[in-house]
Parts: sequence; C-alpha cells; structure tokens
Amino acid sequence: MICQDQPAPSMVFDVVIVGAGPAGLMAAVWMAQLNIKTLVIEMKSCRTLTGHADGLESRTLEILDSFGLAGIIWKESNRTMEVCLWHHDSRGDLCRDSVSPNCNPGLSRFQEVTLGQGRIEERLLEFIDKSPNVQIKWKTSPQELLIHQDLVDLHREHAVELRLDTDSVVRTKYLIGCDGAHSWVRKQLGLSLEGKSAGNGDWGVLDCIPTTDFPDIRKRCIIKSQAGNVMIIPREDNLVRFYVQLPARCATRFRRDRRPSVLLSILGDALKPYYLVTSHVEWCTIYTVGQRLCRDFSVQDRVFLSGDAVHTHSPKAGQGMNVSMQDTYNLGWKLASVLRGVATSAILRTYQEERLPVAERLIRFDRRMCLGICSGSDHASADRENLADFRDETTGLEETLSEENTTASGLSVTYPPNLLVTATRIPPSQPDKHGVLYCSTPHLAKNIVIGRRLPDVLVLCQSNSQPWYLQERLPSTGQWHLLVFGGDISKASQLQRVEALARQLTRPNSILAPLCMPGATTTVGSVAVYLIHSASRFDVQLMNLPPIFRPYDDRRGREYRRVFADNEGFAPGCGMAYSLYGIAPEGCVVLLRPDQHCSLVVPLEDADTLERFFSLFVPV
Ligand SMILES: Cc1cc2nc3c(=O)[nH]c(=O)nc-3n(C[C@H](O)[C@H](O)[C@H](O)COP(=O)(O)OP(=O)(O)OC[C@H]3O[C@@H](n4cnc5c(N)ncnc54)[C@H](O)[C@@H]3O)c2cc1C
Ligand SMILES: *[C@@H]1O[C@H](CO)[C@@H](O)[C@H](O)[C@H]1NC(C)=O
Ligand SMILES: *[C@@H]1O[C@H](CO)[C@@H](O)[C@H](O)[C@H]1NC(C)=O
Ligand SMILES: *[C@@H]1O[C@H](CO)[C@@H](O)[C@H](O)[C@H]1NC(C)=O
Repeated sequence: MICQDQPAPSMVFDVVIVGAGPAGLMAAVWMAQLNIKTLVIEMKSCRTLTGHADGLESRTLEILDSFGLAGIIWKESNRTMEVCLWHHDSRGDLCRDSVSPNCNPGLSRFQEVTLGQGRIEERLLEFIDKSPNVQIKWKTSPQELLIHQDLVDLHREHAVELRLDTDSVVRTKYLIGCDGAHSWVRKQLGLSLEGKSAGNGDWGVLDCIPTTDFPDIRKRCIIKSQAGNVMIIPREDNLVRFYVQLPARCATRFRRDRRPSVLLSILGDALKPYYLVTSHVEWCTIYTVGQRLCRDFSVQDRVFLSGDAVHTHSPKAGQGMNVSMQDTYNLGWKLASVLRGVATSAILRTYQEERLPVAERLIRFDRRMCLGICSGSDHASADRENLADFRDETTGLEETLSEENTTASGLSVTYPPNLLVTATRIPPSQPDKHGVLYCSTPHLAKNIVIGRRLPDVLVLCQSNSQPWYLQERLPSTGQWHLLVFGGDISKASQLQRVEALARQLTRPNSILAPLCMPGATTTVGSVAVYLIHSASRFDVQLMNLPPIFRPYDDRRGREYRRVFADNEGFAPGCGMAYSLYGIAPEGCVVLLRPDQHCSLVVPLEDADTLERFFSLFVPV
C-alpha cells in the first residue's frame, strides 16, 4: 500500500455536501447547473422512498422552475386550493367552520402542491445525475472534520478536510452540512440547536389511501376534536397524509409497536359521524420536533449549515422542505461566484445575514400555528363550551393561515440591506458592518420591494409577440439580471435616455462592460440586460435599439428574448407590468441577483451607483 501525504486529485473538490435530503439536493442542483466539482455524501443507500415531508410552496416551485424542474412536479402533484376548518360542537357533532382559499392568486404563477418528498428528490437526482461534475456517494458518512487554520483565509485553498468511514480523505474548499436535525457537521463545529419542544404532545403521521364519506377528504383540513386534533393533506395517487395529535398514553403505545391501528382509531373518532377505513397504509411515523434554532449558519465562511441542521419545527407549519431548499438556493450561487472568481468571499457572510431572520420568522410562525391548532385540546371539553373563546382561537388560526398565504409561502421573504442588497434610506458614507453603502431610489418602482423576489408578470416578447411570465426568462444560471424599464421609447426623448444608459453600461474601463458583454467566458457572475418598454410594440424596431439589448454571438446567433413590451395581447393579464410594479413613466433600472431577489432600483441616468454597487464585491 502506498502512503499518500496529499490526497489523490480525485479526492479534491470545490464543494462537499453532507446529506442528500431536500437541502443537500438543492445545493447539488446549483453545483450541477454551474459545473462546480462537487461530492455529495449520504449515509442512506438511496433516496427517500415513502413518507417524510409532503409538499411544496409556490416559491419553491418557482425556484425549481428556474432550473427547468417544476413542470413534471406540477403535473404529478395535487393542488391544495382550499383549506377547511372543522370542529366538534358542544353536542359532539362535527361541523365545518369555514372554507377559505389556500392561495393568493396573482402572487405566483404556481400554487401550493402536495407530493411525497421522495418523488421530489427523484426529480432533483435525475437533474444532478446528468452532470459529470457532481458525484453522489451513498452509504457513506464522514468521521472527522478538520479546518486547516493556516489556509482558512485563502479561499483558493482546500482548507477543509473530511475523513470518510471508507477511510478515504477528501479535501474541499467549502463544506455544506445538510444532514438534518441531528446534524453531525453541526456537532463537529461545536454548535447546537437552541429552543424547546413544542410542548403540545406528539403527532402521529399516517399516509394511506382512505375510503370515507367525509366530504372534504380531498381538501386541506384542520379538525379540532375532542378525540385529538387532526390535519388532512390530500396527496398524489389518492394518498392522504393525516397528522393526528396523540394523547400521551397512545404516543407511548404507538412508539413501541408502530401499529397504524392506533392512529386509525383516533382518526375514526375524530371524524365521527363520518366513517373512515383504509386498505393501504403506505407509511406512518411519530413526530415530536420542537422549535429549535442554531444561530450560526456558517463557520469562517468555509463550512455552512442548511435546512433542518439549523432549524427544526413542528410539521404543522408544513415548511421544512420549503425553507430547507430555499436555504441552499440562497447559498449555491454565492459559492459558485466565489469559486469562479467573479465575487470576493465577502459575499458569503450574506448567507447567514439573509437566512437566519427567515428561520427566526419560521419558528415564530410555527409556534403560533401550534397554539392555533392545539389550543384547548388538552383542556376539559367544558372549556370549549364557551363558544366565544373557541371563536377567538379559531380567528387566531385563520390569521396565521392567511399569513401562510404570503409570508410563509416564501414569496414575501425580504432580505435586509447588506453587501448584495441596497438600502432604501440614506446609507452611511462608509460601508457599515453589513457592507451597505449604496441606496436605491425605491419610489421609481413603488411595488418592487428591495431585497424581495421580483413578483411575476406577463410581458410580450418584442421579436415575436409571445407572452412570457417575466420570471421564466430569468433562469438560474448564476447570471445577474438587469431590467431596464425604458418607458415609452416611441418618444425620442425617452429613447435617448435608454441609449445613454446603454452607452454608460458599455463604456471602456467600467466594471460592468465586461460583465454585460455577450460571450463572457463564464455566465456565472455576468449580467444579462433586458429592456421592458411601455411603447406599443408596433412603434419599436428591435434592430434600432442599442446592441446590448440584442446580443449577438457567432455560434448561436442573436438573442431575441431580451426586449419585452408591456402591451395587451394573446393572454389575459398582459400589459400590466408597469402598473403592477408601480413604475413611473420616466422608467428605472432594476437589478436582480441570480436568485431573482431585487438588489437595487435606480434612475436610468444612474449607471454610476450600479457600477459602484458591483465594485464592492467584484474582484478587480
Ligand atoms: C422520519 C422523518 C419524518 C418526517 N416527517 C415529516 C412530515 O411528516 N412532515 C413534514 O413537513 N416534514 C417531515 N419531516 C421533515 C422534513 O423531511 C424536513 O424538514 C426536510 O426534509 C428538511 O430537509 P433537509 O435536507 O434539511 O433534512 P433531511 O431531509 O433530514 O435530510 C438530511 C439527510 O442527511 C442524511 N444524513 C444525516 N446524517 C448524515 C451523516 N452523518 N452522514 C451522511 N448523511 C447524513 C440523512 O440520511 C438525510 O438524507 C420528516 C423528517 C424525517 C427525518
Ligand atoms: C392527484 O394527482 C394524481 C396524480 O397526478 C391524480 O391521479 C389524481 O387524480 C389527482 N387527484 C385529484 C383529486 O385531482
Ligand atoms: C411546503 O409547504 C407546503 C405548503 O404549506 C406544505 O404542504 C409542505 O408540507 C411543505 N413542505 C415541507 C417539506 O415541509
Ligand atoms: C389567502 O389569500 C386569499 C386572497 O387574498 C384570501 O381570499 C384567502 O382568504 C387567504 N386564505 C386564508 C387561509 O387566509
């Protein structure tokens, strides 16, 4: 046997991901998309087959769609359009309190869907398998983690070393711990989850194909009942996911023998007078996760933690997979940008600055959701006879549910000012500790929130009048997106302002010029420039516009999908972009990051602020 001081080159990676759950796979999807040499280590022998989490929020679907992955998931899944609240009244009859829409039409082109975690993992794995750069090692766990302190500030070096249970040693520049609630990586870093258990007992989880006369079995339901509180989540293939609150003695029994009959008998009582039987139980488990949070999402910007490794909560908020995938969606392009040398490692600290507040909000939300669902359940039924009290509790729950429409669905997550998000008020004259130095002019686009993902609208492609959701033209390629809202460019004065901006963006010696040029060696970190005008498309000639809006490449020819008209036609809802975004007739420039979150809004004349914004993190 040959002893090696240096690991063999095949054991050197840019990124190592521990854990192939939703968080780890989303990180791997980024790395596959951007050709980053990556190793994924997973202790299980294959993907999740049954059970676990059960659905996706609309923002998660938007993210998957930006990699071309939403279509098939959208087709295979079921929608949960409505949510019903039921309760047992004082005579013991089950009554429906309310039916409300479970989505907020217009916020996204997607709605919440339900589909088993395994089916979603399968799609992500197919995508990753196509990449020669990402390797997955199943049945493998790490044994030892070492950060070489002498190399830690040199981001070109492979400062992190991992010994695997196969006894091989791998070196990597960055490590992402996506290894779930009992995270080994987190423990190696000496970090822990803080918080307490939800304090409202254990929940049984059951996936089965039910036969029942309960009328809302294909809707999302919350049932408050003396027998125990129940949540119903309809799923693919006629499956239904039931969450059943377990009294202590049932929990003990169920934990011991895992017999689904324990859950089925509580369910039967809770649904009375309706009947429920099943001939197929696919999966069941007991779930007692408390609300816990780790306040350190990274160590020395070399090792990062994501998903359940840094935040756990009850399944009632139904957010685990969503927030976990969104964690690594936030991190992936940043790591790739640093690895490709198009951004300094300073941007990596924005991962924690942006995702810790999201986790904190998730935990507060989950706590309220638990209170709303479980309130009263442990009290004698006499308490509940006080109908007024009960209504109050239900109102609280309804408010919490309506929050899920927006905040919790991930659509309104807003990142605070930092190195990659400009301030909206007068900024400091020196970069503050978050790197904030520049300020947007938010009143130019009243309804675009700096730091938030851009709301979606339909626009018409100037070259062929095809309607597009704007977001579909902003795929996750590691590129930034510069949207020029040029206004009515059929007016000479407005066209001149757009032309002047184009000259500014391409002037020699600017940082932006090489980033905006077509044919850059890497798309990661470059800037794609789009024009969205409000003139009639019949009064605009594509070929008369500045070349930056119609880039040409010898091999691929012209890019025809960079200019859009905010005109009516061919699909309901077209021609609303300027009004929905609240853009003034003078127009503006909106810069979106590679994850579609808005960094900056400035006037057409202010290419300077744009330039200086990039100069804070683009290496010269
Ligand atoms: C048994 C179970 C039941 C669940 N039920 C529900 C539910 O009913 N509803 C709901 O909303 N959510 C449920 N969840 C939670 C949901 O699955 C998570 O919130 C979501 O998957 C978070 O994704 P993640 O990638 O952060 O973590 P996980 O999905 O936990 O993925 C972590 C991965 O890391 C791997 N791993 C762990 N340690 C190591 C190691 N040392 N070396 C290598 N690999 C390692 C694991 O095998 C796993 O594949 C459940 C989770 C579990 C584990
Ligand atoms: C749910 O989705 C599955 C898979 O596409 C489909 O077979 C089933 O009919 C759907 N159920 C409903 C009620 O739409
Ligand atoms: C994602 O959100 C949806 C909608 O709230 C929920 O049904 C689903 O369980 C969540 N996914 C996970 C894995 O928690
Ligand atoms: C979600 O939003 C829609 C539209 O705003 C609203 O009608 C509905 O009541 C909300 N749903 C819940 C559960 O609050």
